[in-house]
Amino acid sequence: MNMRTSSEPLILASMILTICLCMSTTANACSSPGYPPGSGSVPGFFIFGDSLVDNGNNNGLLTLARANYRPYGVDFPQGTTGRFTNGRTFVDVLAQLLGFRTFIPPYSRTRGRALLRGANFASGAAGIRDETGNNLGAHLSMNNQVENFGRAVEEMSRFFRGDTEALSCYLSKCIFYSGMGSNDYLNNYFMTDFYNTKSQFTPQAYASSLLQDYDRQLRQLYQFGARKLVVTGVGQIGCIPYELARYQGNSSRCNEEINGAITLFNSGLRKLVDRFNSGRVLPGAKFVYLDTYKSNIDLIENASNYGFTVVDKGCCGVGRNNGQITCLPLQQPCQDRRGYLFWDAFHPTEDANIVLAKMAFTSPSRAYAYPINIQQLAML
Ligand SMILES: *[C@@H]1O[C@H](CO)[C@@H](O)[C@H](O)[C@H]1NC(C)=O
Ligand SMILES: *[C@@H]1O[C@H](CO)[C@@H](O)[C@H](O)[C@H]1NC(C)=O
Repeated sequence: MNMRTSSEPLILASMILTICLCMSTTANACSSPGYPPGSGSVPGFFIFGDSLVDNGNNNGLLTLARANYRPYGVDFPQGTTGRFTNGRTFVDVLAQLLGFRTFIPPYSRTRGRALLRGANFASGAAGIRDETGNNLGAHLSMNNQVENFGRAVEEMSRFFRGDTEALSCYLSKCIFYSGMGSNDYLNNYFMTDFYNTKSQFTPQAYASSLLQDYDRQLRQLYQFGARKLVVTGVGQIGCIPYELARYQGNSSRCNEEINGAITLFNSGLRKLVDRFNSGRVLPGAKFVYLDTYKSNIDLIENASNYGFTVVDKGCCGVGRNNGQITCLPLQQPCQDRRGYLFWDAFHPTEDANIVLAKMAFTSPSRAYAYPINIQQLAML
């Protein structure tokens, strides 16, 4: 009698639990691969890009584009990791905003079931074009990164026992981020000592050619299963400390030739996002375009509103604007890092990354995240 009364609530509880589980399975319409999901509706986060988001993939490569030495990572919980900034990158902050409790690991150190939660394929110096960044050494171009993702998809399919529909369903709920193009300008088009693209292409023709390649690469990600994609425009790199230090010896002027060329690329990328979202070319795809160029201007013009006092110098570096040579091993960085927009000649500080990621995630303005923000994309 006693036993019966005490077990009845248990049975009831387990019945309710079963009903809830069934309902949530139906609502999600994907079978679980049996791995703890990131959070809510986004089970995984896959990242493609360059040094703005690389978190260690270049550590084992023969290249000058490496940041696995101090003081890089001076404000990161795990210290130096290969991230090209003092603390968290833009995608580290995005991962936290998406509800992930740990950072997305570099693909160079991620295999097996862990891939289901996402991986970071980004590589410092990488570009849309394969030769971009060769002046610095080895790297994984966007083509290489997409190939590596293809390998990862093959590996992940094991955990769905060959059920390709279940795998597709799973990947369709993941967020994909791609930030490409900066190096195609910095470490290609505008590096005329090393590359001849500037003599071969007008700025408009170069932007069109890059977009044609990028179009193909993004379609490949779609074919592998990506449905929720965030693509980011190129930032205002004519105004980074590296360019300020170089440009006609005038350390307070942005290089408007570079900014003009980038604007052509960015407006084309935004149009590409419109085309992908039209439903005609890539059914079911949802793209978000991040206008980092616009958010960069906002951060510089409204610096004090965001807590920045120095917007034209790297916190760590050598020469004019701390921008002539990048932050060197064991160099002493600036003390007041919170006031700096740039960590080194090229890369934003953690604080700038936090502001930019929050804008991309929650901004109601279509000026920064278009046509919806990342939070809205995650909830679709
Ligand atoms: C540098 O640029 C600023 C802003 O355009 C201008 O006011 C200044 O005269 C320039 N200085 C030199 C040395 O050219
Ligand atoms: C600077 O901030 C003001 C007020 O929030 C805003 O209206 C303006 O658009 C911002 N500037 C830029 C360049 O975004």
